[in-house]
Amino acid sequence: MTKIAIWCRHKDDNIIGIGPNIPWHISSDFKRFRRITENACITCGQTTYESFPNRTLPNRKIYVLTFDENYEVSDKNNHFVVNNAKALKEFEEPLYICGGASIYKMFMQKMAPDIIVDSCFMGDISSELKGSPVDIGECIELMKKNYKQISPDYEEDNVITTIWVKKGEFVPQEVLKHISISIINH
Ligand SMILES: NC(=O)c1ccc[n+]([C@@H]2O[C@H](COP(=O)([O-])OP(=O)(O)OC[C@H]3O[C@@H](n4cnc5c(N)ncnc54)[C@H](OP(=O)(O)O)[C@@H]3O)[C@@H](O)[C@H]2O)c1
Repeated sequence: MTKIAIWCRHKDDNIIGIGPNIPWHISSDFKRFRRITENACITCGQTTYESFPNRTLPNRKIYVLTFDENYEVSDKNNHFVVNNAKALKEFEEPLYICGGASIYKMFMQKMAPDIIVDSCFMGDISSELKGSPVDIGECIELMKKNYKQISPDYEEDNVITTIWVKKGEFVPQEVLKHISISIINH
């Protein structure tokens, strides 16, 4: 299977959230996320899942990571509880890793994604949100060490998006093609 990490982080400090929220709202970035992940399988932590409107993302199969064996998803036909992340090693289809920080860190350290879609927000973070900042600095260090950028910078609405692949490894071209086409807002 192909594992793809996809995130949007803030420049320099690599913050991806404050408390349970993403501290910016850039419609084109959400649309890009939707174009890339629609009709595919995604995985995320329970905190991120709870932050989706109505605990869902239409037209996606969601594999929710939680240690709670009794956790109840909002849509039993399309959402699935995963208590042991190792089960995702056997996954056959492309799997998009959609956060939050604990899930990005676990994958980057233990099940290195084949592809990373790295979006970087160059603007200022909203200072009104309450909660602790959540950052993925360790993931960015690992990305810069173990991956190489294979796409040009694509800039839209102050967000720069690039594609990275694991150094020295084969990456399925059809997945890369889908992501490359979907990044650009045609
Ligand atoms: N900017 C972006 O691209 C982006 C994307 C996604 C999320 N975010 C932000 O990220 C923040 C949330 O990140 P987070 O790290 O606090 O939470 P999270 O990763 O979304 O979820 C954490 C939860 O996932 C479960 N979990 C973690 N590791 C697990 C494992 N190995 N096996 C099974 N379950 C596991 C646990 O759930 P239980 O407690 O139920 O056991 C844990 O409490 C929010 O601010 C959100 O807005 C940003």
